[in-house]
Amino acid sequence: MKARLLNAEAPGGKRDNLVQSLPLSTPYVVQFFPIYACNFTCEYCHHSIPKNNREFVTEWPVMEYSLYEKCIDELAGFPEKVRTLRFVGMGEPLLHKDIIKMIKYAKDKKVSNRVELISNGSLLSHDMSDALISAGLDRLVISLQGTSAEKYKKVCGVDIDFDTFVSNIGYLFNKKMDMEIYLKIVDVALDGDDDRERFFKIFGDICDTIGIENAVPIFPDVEFNNVLNTESRVKTQFGLPMKKMNVCPQPFYTMQINPDGKIVGCYAVYYPRILGDCNNRSLEDIWNGEEYMKFRMEMLDGRANVCKFCKECKINDFRIFPEDSLDEYADELKRKYEELK
Ligand SMILES: C[S@@+](CC[C@H](N)C(=O)[O-])C[C@H]1O[C@@H](n2cnc3c(N)ncnc32)[C@H](O)[C@@H]1O
Repeated sequence: MKARLLNAEAPGGKRDNLVQSLPLSTPYVVQFFPIYACNFTCEYCHHSIPKNNREFVTEWPVMEYSLYEKCIDELAGFPEKVRTLRFVGMGEPLLHKDIIKMIKYAKDKKVSNRVELISNGSLLSHDMSDALISAGLDRLVISLQGTSAEKYKKVCGVDIDFDTFVSNIGYLFNKKMDMEIYLKIVDVALDGDDDRERFFKIFGDICDTIGIENAVPIFPDVEFNNVLNTESRVKTQFGLPMKKMNVCPQPFYTMQINPDGKIVGCYAVYYPRILGDCNNRSLEDIWNGEEYMKFRMEMLDGRANVCKFCKECKINDFRIFPEDSLDEYADELKRKYEELK
């Protein structure tokens, strides 16, 4: 296998100690959630729940291109470059009809060090791959669901032509030039050691990095009892030991822009708080605004005090990296954020 195997580390690369850089005048990560729709219904994901049984996610499902363009123009005005501009959220980004135009616009405006997208890879026709390369996408993460068509049917409820799927990824890998491709699979989509070897054999030469991540119980409505492996309850998604954090670091470095323009300060599926609406305010105004600041200050008193969602948030438990821990610096950070007022 030629790809580098990730082993209990952050898939996006080495992380700095977050506390040293706070407060941030520009978010490290801006996550666009372009479309609330998916063509898969993976058994460990929010999309496995019937729509009527879900709580509020967005007022409308597809981000308007004009709103997106406004956001990118505003990101260009932040004091620094965003480190990562990411297309993901609760859906399949390649389903958005303007996704190529969106990637290209962000790249042309040079608003971030890298532009990345997380996809299930099912729409990677040769045309789509060519377009992603020409648009300048820097990093593509493909979430795999098995080593056979049968497994795909079981895990995500869809029929795929598995050989074509693999060959499409190979096509992209051979043509991609500078783009980094990370292929990952959740542990629950593999059946034991033989299947693990099969996974590396099929995919290990058509990506730059490869990994097996844990499926973790991060969605409040999903019935995880029959889905998860036991390790998934004691290790994070990335295979690190779980460490419950009192202060959630996400609102200090990230901003998610939902399809309807609502801004949230974390990656939870149900939001603790909407921190602004970019339809009628600028991103910089929201990032430095009263709501975001108040949310951060409350968070420094401990997530249990912020609201029920934060208190019970499993994203915090299962997806956070130790370099981001702010627990020991809460008082010092409160003083620093107070000075910004
Ligand atoms: C919600 S999906 C959206 C993007 C895209 N549709 C995809 O499949 O990659 C984002 C990522 O979350 C991962 N994911 C979803 N539910 C998860 C869970 N319970 N545990 C770990 N990873 C999960 C998926 O495998 C995927 O890599």
